[in-house]
Amino acid sequence: MSSQPAENCELTQDERDLLFYESRIVRPVKMKVPEFKRNEHLRHVIFSRQFSVDTLEYLAETADKVRMLSKQRSGQDFLINLLHHKRAMLYFTQPSTRTFLSFMSACQILGITCNEVRDPSTSSETKGETRFDSIRMFSSYFDLIIMRSKLAKLAESCAYLMNDLEVSGNRSVPIINAGSGADEHPTQSLLDIYTLQRTFQFTEAGSSPMASRLHELRQLHPELTTGLAGKTYGFCGDIGRGRTVRSLASLLAKYEGVKLIFIAPDDPTLALRDDLRHRLQDRGIAISEVEHFDEIVDGVPVIEQLDALYMTRIQKEHDSPAEAEKFAQIDLSRYKLTRGLVDRMKVYAPILHPFPRDQHFGEIPPEIDNDPRAMYFRQARNGMWIRAALLASVFGVDHQISRFFEQQYSEWHHYNEDDVWAPSLPKGPLRP
Ligand code: CP
Repeated sequence: MSSQPAENCELTQDERDLLFYESRIVRPVKMKVPEFKRNEHLRHVIFSRQFSVDTLEYLAETADKVRMLSKQRSGQDFLINLLHHKRAMLYFTQPSTRTFLSFMSACQILGITCNEVRDPSTSSETKGETRFDSIRMFSSYFDLIIMRSKLAKLAESCAYLMNDLEVSGNRSVPIINAGSGADEHPTQSLLDIYTLQRTFQFTEAGSSPMASRLHELRQLHPELTTGLAGKTYGFCGDIGRGRTVRSLASLLAKYEGVKLIFIAPDDPTLALRDDLRHRLQDRGIAISEVEHFDEIVDGVPVIEQLDALYMTRIQKEHDSPAEAEKFAQIDLSRYKLTRGLVDRMKVYAPILHPFPRDQHFGEIPPEIDNDPRAMYFRQARNGMWIRAALLASVFGVDHQISRFFEQQYSEWHHYNEDDVWAPSLPKGPLRP
């Protein structure tokens, strides 16, 4: 690890280790991306901008194959033997339900053995061991480290640690960022994109994938096309502290002609942060920032023009006492979805949420759950399939999945309820 600069002598070794990587962390993303690949394959997964649109399409196709193979015993047997010689460490020192369990399930689908450290008080970090020593130890026993931390740049720093170990001829394993402070949650954005990809195929629920509902929807929305490009995406709630919003907005910016509308209080903590705003503007993305769903953008109330809505919870656990006092003066009820608002949304527009939702705040009340546009439970399940696809790609068994799928299932057209691609249209006449 780094030598100790004299001026840093008051810092802990953990802090000095993070500083050691600072000069690499501040570089532009395009300089870093090649370092997270090996032979054009993903090795470390640190931020969402690593994924090209082609990679997103490819991972979605692989996820679809894993999903369909998993429905048959022969497919399950094939998948579970792909990586049974691999071991993964799930190092989650911030709470998690979905990311932890869907990664564990994805590992199990592919036969990867999992172990976990979730509570650092049970690890030797309580005896003074640094996080970086912990990570290096994990790399001695495991073939992959999937990590969540409240420290924004820890996963990225660990990827550089692994690269340095590789260069010096030591054991080195891939790092997957499963959520890093308020910074990034790249695999959440993968499942968000996967959910949008499936939804915007507009394939009829429960039937052949060839039967499209697009012609029906185009009677109301003649401009409607398949795919993610050219659509308007709304993000509502705690935009400033939402790492899932940062990762997803950065990915959506890769699609042609998208428009992003951020619906958040006009407060520096909760509103869109400057770095993300500038990143999106630099890519020429049309963005709007509004304080409520009824604001008019391009002549239309926001809620009525969205092709997809991404709700988030207000992350009160990060409030300082001063912020809590300030936020008490803001009308946060504007950032809750109501039946009346959903009724005004486009008939096909999916409602997403990374979850957990906050039962006390109620940004999505349970009465919305039965609306065909409510995609958040399906979205969470999609996380298991896309994470399995990602792991298959990192370990280079994705082509084996494709070959097996083509051999076994190319003629398979049976899709059960789990394969519904798009929200069913609400009953009754379609309304504009
Ligand atoms: N969406 C998400 O990251 O959920 P968890 O915090 O439960 O993993």
